[in-house]
Amino acid sequence: MSERRPVIAANWKMNKSIEEAEEFCNALLPRICDVGAQVVICPPFLALNTVVEATKGGEVEVAAQNMHFEPDGAFTGEVSAAMLLDAGALAVVLGHSERRQLFGETDEALSRKVPVALENGLLPIFCVGESEEERERDDTDRVLRRQVDAGLSRVPEARLGEVVIAYEPIWAIGTGKTATPEEAEDACGFIRSLVSARSEAAGQAIRILYGGSVKPANAADLLGREEIDGALVGGASLDPGDFAAIVMAA
Ligand code: 13P
Repeated sequence: MSERRPVIAANWKMNKSIEEAEEFCNALLPRICDVGAQVVICPPFLALNTVVEATKGGEVEVAAQNMHFEPDGAFTGEVSAAMLLDAGALAVVLGHSERRQLFGETDEALSRKVPVALENGLLPIFCVGESEEERERDDTDRVLRRQVDAGLSRVPEARLGEVVIAYEPIWAIGTGKTATPEEAEDACGFIRSLVSARSEAAGQAIRILYGGSVKPANAADLLGREEIDGALVGGASLDPGDFAAIVMAA
């Protein structure tokens, strides 16, 4: 890894009650003293404030898993950036492949969400990644370029380096099939080159994470790569011992 500060983020997806969220934090915190990485937990909306309270004074930051780009209005079922800040969140996951595939999240919506998160002081963790079929027909670079170009299109050059991008190949999510460190590094390096084409400084500064079946057993190999600045962890982040082991590998 480079001098960029690694990010290790736990994406709980639609898992854990409020009580379970609190238990997780109580089990995690004593296991992750003096860590160099930025540790982020992304609970479901209803457990956001519980995780904020349970991790207060520590080094863990809290992120939401989605956000609307409008500040308020008639958008049933949605939450705004200001609402997330109000609940104590400091970051937000945007464009996760499950939201793209299952809930119709579009590149156009993401082109609005990423800058709105930044403008409101939330760290955007912007997800991109190709499907198995796209990889097989050698379309990975084209898909990543389309997603990255769209998501960053309205981010001013001066702020590009503040975005966190998570490369999550869809075929590696929840499948136990991890991208090899070489495959992950190639894709992260390609994403960095896309950012560098707009701003060399931003390309150097931007943190690019890998996600997809990251576990304690493969974390060190992935995180040891120059182009990989951290991990977005799904399944293994539900267990405080496993997540702590991944944090300590960074
Ligand atoms: P898994 O770690 O369960 O493969 O999930 C990855 C992911 O989607 C994180 O956002």
